[in-house]
Amino acid sequence: MKAIILAGGKGTRLYPITLGVSKQLLPVNDVPMIYYPLSVLLRAGISEIAIISTPDHLPGFENLLGCGSQLGAQFTYIEQPQPEGIAQAFILAEKFIGRDACALILGDNIFYGSQLTELLKSAIDRAADKATLFAYEVKDSKRYGVIEKDASGKILSIEEKPKHPKSNLAVTGLYVYPNTIVSVANSIRPSPRGELEITDVNAYYMKSDQLVCEQLGRGYAWFDTGTINSLYQATDYVRALEDRQGFKIGCIEEAAFQAGLLSKAGLQKRAAFFEHNDYGTYLKSLIQ
Ligand code: DAU
Repeated sequence: MKAIILAGGKGTRLYPITLGVSKQLLPVNDVPMIYYPLSVLLRAGISEIAIISTPDHLPGFENLLGCGSQLGAQFTYIEQPQPEGIAQAFILAEKFIGRDACALILGDNIFYGSQLTELLKSAIDRAADKATLFAYEVKDSKRYGVIEKDASGKILSIEEKPKHPKSNLAVTGLYVYPNTIVSVANSIRPSPRGELEITDVNAYYMKSDQLVCEQLGRGYAWFDTGTINSLYQATDYVRALEDRQGFKIGCIEEAAFQAGLLSKAGLQKRAAFFEHNDYGTYLKSLIQ
């Protein structure tokens, strides 16, 4: 299983902050935003990961994350010259994906919930022929991809930012696809807003009866951090939980260690690297 973190876009809703720095490198509490989606992938044992961003911002991600070996992972960096749609990621990553199934997570999406890793692993297990998306109930679903299901859970429709949403179930920015994703992404046409829409990809899998929708219930938190408000909401949430319970949410070393990608010696090395701050102290506590 391969995975992509899509971390491009212009971040215009956060201007002027994002004029000089990528949104996905901004801090959410004490780690860069991209640590949260990256830790979701690592925790599920996915180690071959492509990071896609703009030509301007890609070097920032390479400086931050390197080749991935410090986490027992392998990172590939791919440029997206223009933000021409989430589904374009699969076309840009065709060589990286090769013959494998592929997950995608948006670099500005923050997930929290104790069973998420199990749900993601199940999606990976069925990825030879089934696509999986993760839905989350929100108050105002108009801003998202919206999925409609019947009482038995059968998916009836999926629409991108509908004016009159058929449900309050938003499609979150985490998806798992079979290897056919590359040809499906190549087959769709740009929407009226000029993007290759991930919703059109999902509609294709729905029509061919290959789409599974996992609903993240009340015990989960999901934030997309595209606006100042949501960025601070996410930070407040993470801070409150971490302060109260004493563990970290977006710690990539912990995720890689728990998944068995990073050895104890590897974790010790990372703890030593951060020895002069609280992050290093936290890593040290994981070893003990
Ligand atoms: O957050 C979940 C939602 O993400 C889904 O419910 C929608 O179905 C999906 O279309 C998407 O909606 P957004 O309006 O949030 O997409 P946005 O254009 O803001 O892009 C999401 C992130 O992906 C953002 O951080 C920038 C990045 N991106 C986006 C596009 C279109 C790229 O890196 N490249 C792109 O071409």
